[in-house]
Order: sequence, then structure tokens, then C-alpha cells
Amino acid sequence: MFFSGRSPVGLDIGSGFLKAVQLKDTKGGYELELFDTLPLPPELIVDGSIIDSLRLVDSLKELSRKARIKTRDVAISIAGHSSVIIKRVSLPDMSEEELSESIKFEAEQYIPFDIEDVNLDFQILGPKEEPGQMDVILVAVKRDIINEYISVVKEAGFNCQVVDVNSFALENIYEINYEIESDKNTAIVNIGASTINMNILKGGVSVFTRDSAVGSNLHTEVLQREFNLTYEVAERLKRGEPVENVSPQDAMSVMDLASDEIIGEVSRSLEYFHEEINEVILSGGCSLIKEFPRLVAGKIGVETKVMQPFKNIRIPKKFDVTYIEEMAPMAAVAAGLALRRPGDR
Ligand SMILES: Nc1ncnc2c1ncn2[C@@H]1O[C@H](COP(=O)(O)OP(=O)(O)OP(=O)(O)O)[C@@H](O)[C@H]1O
Ligand SMILES: [Mg+2]
Repeated sequence: MFFSGRSPVGLDIGSGFLKAVQLKDTKGGYELELFDTLPLPPELIVDGSIIDSLRLVDSLKELSRKARIKTRDVAISIAGHSSVIIKRVSLPDMSEEELSESIKFEAEQYIPFDIEDVNLDFQILGPKEEPGQMDVILVAVKRDIINEYISVVKEAGFNCQVVDVNSFALENIYEINYEIESDKNTAIVNIGASTINMNILKGGVSVFTRDSAVGSNLHTEVLQREFNLTYEVAERLKRGEPVENVSPQDAMSVMDLASDEIIGEVSRSLEYFHEEINEVILSGGCSLIKEFPRLVAGKIGVETKVMQPFKNIRIPKKFDVTYIEEMAPMAAVAAGLALRRPGDR
């Protein structure tokens, strides 16, 4: 996978924050080249759809300036329960070439959208117990959503080299940072502003993915409602900054209500996977909320860690290590995207 030349910038276009990560391939492993974030005004992206593309282009350009991004090539990802379908299915044994040709036909019965409206991709996992069958992961993304993102990214001056999905980016960054234990079921749970991306790995292999439309915007909303605050002030309060007339304790107890709701959704998603989970790895901005990981561990009853996406990545001295360590869990998807190289699968 050694790749000369500049690697693409992993650009995670979330509904709450833009995140950019670039990694350099060195002989000693990956080295951090670039990491930056930019908050987005609310309601530019709703339910995975771009609502205000002009302002999103402006924000992308602003991030590009702020982070001094020199590379034009980017890897982006699409998430969202309404535009991405990932399914593990059983298909008749065939080669990769054969499946490439018949994928549309094979996928049709599994995809709830018109097959003509989606981009399809697949990965053959291997043979199944039943003879003549193989295990395949099917990925279908609505084409109009992909095109929306590609055109915004292009408009902002970038060249979109890779379009990935959040849960795979999370799996990729997890793999380079953590030892795979063959007898362990690990749930990677990325909780952003408006979405949860879940990917369950069984002995390091993805066996279940699910996205839900719930996120840390719930915290912001309860704070706004309870204390009559603007979005911006509520966001500050959520990060633990002092806000006039609201005590941190009051804020915390109101936020716990939202946390309960989010954790309820995580727990329902975990139930769809009918096996025991041994470990939860949290990422996304929601995992930065004080006490949130502890609440997850308590409610779900499973050992819970916050992902360190840069654990095995060398961080040069020019970076503010404290800031990076603090924000790193939010960068998990962008870092996973930054691992992608043109032409790989
Ligand atoms: N330091 C912090 N402390 C607490 N919450 C934070 C902090 N930083 C960000 N958040 C919250 O995390 C969310 C943003 O996280 P993230 O960047 O993972 O989401 P996103 O990718 O933009 O959203 P989504 O993927 O759901 O579209 C916001 O709701 C924000 O308020
Ligand atoms: Mg996100």
C-alpha cells in the first residue's frame, strides 16, 4: 500500500463539524500531516442531505484556508440511514469479475431503492458453510446524494478521489490502532451531531452495520429549550464553557436526559445484532461530552472506551498535542478516510 506522492485529505463533512485529516506514509508508519476542524452553522446538512450548498462551499473554503490544505485530492464519505444501505448477503459462488458484471441483478432484491438510482459496490468476504454460496457485503448509495457531495467538494476547489461510507472509514482507522482479538465482538459507535454510525466487528471482521438519525444535537436542543439559549450558546455550554445564569450542574443534569435518549438508541441498535458485545469503542463529538462514555458503560453494561484514532500515528512536534488528543475522537472518520489511497478497495 506504499504510495509515493501526496496522500489525499480525509474530509469528513458532518452536519455539525467539518474535519480534515491528512496522513503521510513514512517508512516508520503513518505520520500526521494535517488535522483541523470547523463548526458548521446548523441546518446546512439535514438528514444527510445538503440543504444549503452555497454556504457549505464557503465553509469548505474557509477550512481549506484555515488548515492551509495544499492537496486538492480528497476522500469523502457518505452516511445516513436514508441514503446508504450496507447489507451482508449470501450469493452464489462466483469470481470478483463475474460479480462486477451481475451486481445489479444480484443486488436488486436486497436494496429498497430503485436499482437505477444507486451506486453499487461489494466486497466478497469468503465462502459460506452451504456449498456453492459466498458471503458478500453489498453497499448501495443513492446516486443523487453522492453527486450532491461531489459537486460541493468540487465547487470548493477539491478533487474527489474516493467516496467511502462512515462505518468503513471507522473500521479502517480502528484496525491500524488496535489489536484484533479473534474471540471478541467489538462495537464501534460513532456519534456525531445528528447521526450514529455503528459497525460491529467479530474477530476484526465487520458483521453488522447500522446508522440511526440520532445524535448530540439532542443535547443542544434540550439545553436551548430548558435555559432559553441560542444554538451557539448551548453549544458552548455543552463543551463545558461557562455561560451566564446557568450552573454547570444544572446543565449537566439536563444533558443527562439527552444522553439517556442517545444511549437508548445505541442499545436498540445493538439488540439487532443477536450476539453478546464485549467492548464498545466510542468516537464522534458526542464522546467528548464529559461523563458520556461512563454513562454508556453503565447503561449498556459493556466495557466502553473512547477511540484514539492517532494512537499508532506519529504526531510531529509542530502540532499542539494537547489539542489533538482532546479532539481526536471527533477525527475518527476523517482519519479513516485519510488512509484511503487511489485505486484501493
Ligand atoms: N468538546 C466538545 N464537547 C462536547 N461536545 C462536543 C465537543 N465538540 C463537539 N461536540 C459536539 O459533537 C457534535 C459534533 O461531533 P461530530 O463532528 O462527530 O459530528 P458530525 O460529524 O458533524 O455530525 P454527523 O456525523 O452526525 O452529521 C456536535 O453536536 C457538537 O456539539
Ligand atoms: Mg460525523
